[in-house]
Amino acid sequence: MWHRRYHVTTFGCQMNAHDSERIKGMLEELGLGEAAVPEDADVIVFNTCTIREKPDQRFAAHMGEAAARKRERPDTVIAVGGCYAEAQRERLFELYPQVDVAFGPGTIPHLGEWLGAGGFGVERGRFGTGDERRFAGTLPMHRERRFQAWVQISMGCNSRCAYCIVPTVRGREVSRRPGEILAEVERLAGEGVREITLLGQNVNSYGRDVGSGFAELLRACDAVDGIERIRFTSPHPKDFRAPVIEAMAECATVCEHAHLPLQSGSTRILKAMRRTYGRERYFELVGDLRDAIPDLALTTDIIVGFPGETDVDFGETIEVVEEVGFDGAFTFVYSPRATTEAAAMPDQVPEDVKRDRIERLVEVVQRVARERNEQRVGLVEEVLVEGPSRHGDGLLRGRTRRNITVNFAGTASPGELVAVRIDGATSTTLRGEQLSAAAAWSG
Ligand code: SAH
Ligand code: SF4
Ligand code: F3S
Repeated sequence: MWHRRYHVTTFGCQMNAHDSERIKGMLEELGLGEAAVPEDADVIVFNTCTIREKPDQRFAAHMGEAAARKRERPDTVIAVGGCYAEAQRERLFELYPQVDVAFGPGTIPHLGEWLGAGGFGVERGRFGTGDERRFAGTLPMHRERRFQAWVQISMGCNSRCAYCIVPTVRGREVSRRPGEILAEVERLAGEGVREITLLGQNVNSYGRDVGSGFAELLRACDAVDGIERIRFTSPHPKDFRAPVIEAMAECATVCEHAHLPLQSGSTRILKAMRRTYGRERYFELVGDLRDAIPDLALTTDIIVGFPGETDVDFGETIEVVEEVGFDGAFTFVYSPRATTEAAAMPDQVPEDVKRDRIERLVEVVQRVARERNEQRVGLVEEVLVEGPSRHGDGLLRGRTRRNITVNFAGTASPGELVAVRIDGATSTTLRGEQLSAAAAWSG
């Protein structure tokens, strides 16, 4: 029989990237093979994001191509999953009649049913709903890399940040049982995974509903043989407490990196955002983290142009960036999202002011990050090799424990941990040379 093929296009955060691994795993279980490009696929899946307007627009462009494809080959199945699908579930088929099946982020385990469980008797124009949101953790998974894996520890979010649509589209927070997580980590280690990244919208609130906690989870994962690096994203500053800091400091495999979303450096704006911490509390937390983990890298997310943000508020954000000295930051222009509290706030900031602020912020972020990276020159870093460098220059690429990308001259294979002497830095990358095998890390 002619072999059917699928293609998945992923937008958005790591959570979505991980969901896509599950979607791919499920499609393969249904007997489909992966196509390199959507043009060669019989089932085209879009795993969407709606955190800002930009991903919505990118998706719209893809839908234009999908419509054209459907006119040429009407038997192509177009499936749309993820956060945009969930946000637009009432209107999606009206907006995009070329879509056959749609589903929200919590219902991936049911994908097979909607696709006609292999027979592909797709019921067109159907929004797939499962009886309950389920963890995709028990599903087959098609991983990008043999030695790295994401591990979902919770779904949804109980915060109500005024700008954010995630709680609406991903629902209330539910923690996955620690035993289930541990079993997955052990299985991954057995398959050769050396680095795991624990995923949740707010990892620090993990476990309250299952009688566990994030610190305990870190310690349990640290004890799994074969796992050499543990990362996690994202912690919310409001829930970052001493036991987690202690676990980070004491567990050898927990990497010296925290992605700690600041959002704004102005206490007034943080309050309007409902972040429930202020600038001083953030400084305190950074101090506690750095006292416990001296070599800690800190990265962050920052929004400019939140409603009511003045030049003074923005100046305070710049100050915090300088004072904390972030190793990197994702910077965003505030984008009003329908149904969120902030979208209805007065004093929306004009576009040109937002543009001006983001440019100024990016400049400071880049300068500070470059200065931080320059301090690594001359040091030897442990690097997990990921593959060839992206520049086609014959160098290898990997990441340090502090999560900085290093392009380096060397002979190692993907998945190996090697020692690299750092000899150059930009705002986002380091450069270096692998030390001889004798000096390599034993792991
Ligand atoms: N749960 C994660 C963040 C998920 S969204 C956390 O709280 O850390 C990733 C980032 O997108 C947020 O940290 C925020 O900086 C940004 N973001 C979210 N909604 C936004 C909006 N409406 N406009 C601009 N940026 C936004
Ligand atoms: Fe959104 Fe705030 Fe929840 Fe993060 S913590 S997902 S920013 S509501
Ligand atoms: Fe992630 Fe975008 Fe959804 S950032 S949680 S895929 S809205």
